[in-house]
Amino acid sequence: GLKKKEVNVLCLGLDNSGKTTIINQLKPSNAQAQDIVPTIGFSIEKFKTSSLSFTVFDMSGQGRYRNLWEHYYKWVSLIQAYLIMFTELMKCHRPLWNRSVFFCVYQCYLVFREGQAIIFVIDSGDKLRMVVAKEELDTLLNHPDIKHRRIPILFFANKMDLRDALSAVKVSQLLCLENIKDKPWHICASDAVKGEGLQEGVDWLQDQIR
Ligand code: GTP
Ligand code: MG
Repeated sequence: GLKKKEVNVLCLGLDNSGKTTIINQLKPSNAQAQDIVPTIGFSIEKFKTSSLSFTVFDMSGQGRYRNLWEHYYKWVSLIQAYLIMFTELMKCHRPLWNRSVFFCVYQCYLVFREGQAIIFVIDSGDKLRMVVAKEELDTLLNHPDIKHRRIPILFFANKMDLRDALSAVKVSQLLCLENIKDKPWHICASDAVKGEGLQEGVDWLQDQIR
């Protein structure tokens, strides 16, 4: 059949906001994990839509890992160094695991360097940490690489099922999303456990990328 266009996406947001749960829901049911545990470092996931093939870089939102994504440009150079090293290793016909490590590192590099979209997840029930989420978002938006790119950002105001969850409009106000003028953005309320609201977001993202 037709080859789908490959899209690299960076999925960011505070720990416990629901990033991994969202990505898990977007995968075909036979590939979905039953138990979701806090992500350590990062994880690379794939899913397809009608016209696109997504590779998602699911980052851990925990504080001690968060500076990974704040300073991800440093990562790119680190990964570049690894790439060179592994290319050399491959030349020596090393065992297969070296190749899979190489592949993994290469994928990270591609997503970081050429990420075509960002998914930013917010826990709408976590009012206390909304300011922290805003700080992280502002750091991201001011990053020298992100700042001058028209990269689309999809926000999920997740956990809308919680009784005291803020609405997507309220979350958008608290994060001052109206100030983002140089990038297309969109916010959807979602319930990642039931899978509600996710399709609307992915449809929007698909329209931005095509
Ligand atoms: P880190 O990997 O630590 O950065 O967290 P994460 O953002 O990947 O969050 P994760 O997907 O691991 O979800 C954290 C918890 O929130 C899990 O217990 C999920 O079941 C729960 N959760 C995720 N989405 C929702 C939602 O929409 N509603 C409710 N009620 N719980 C959710
Ligand atoms: Mg996670």
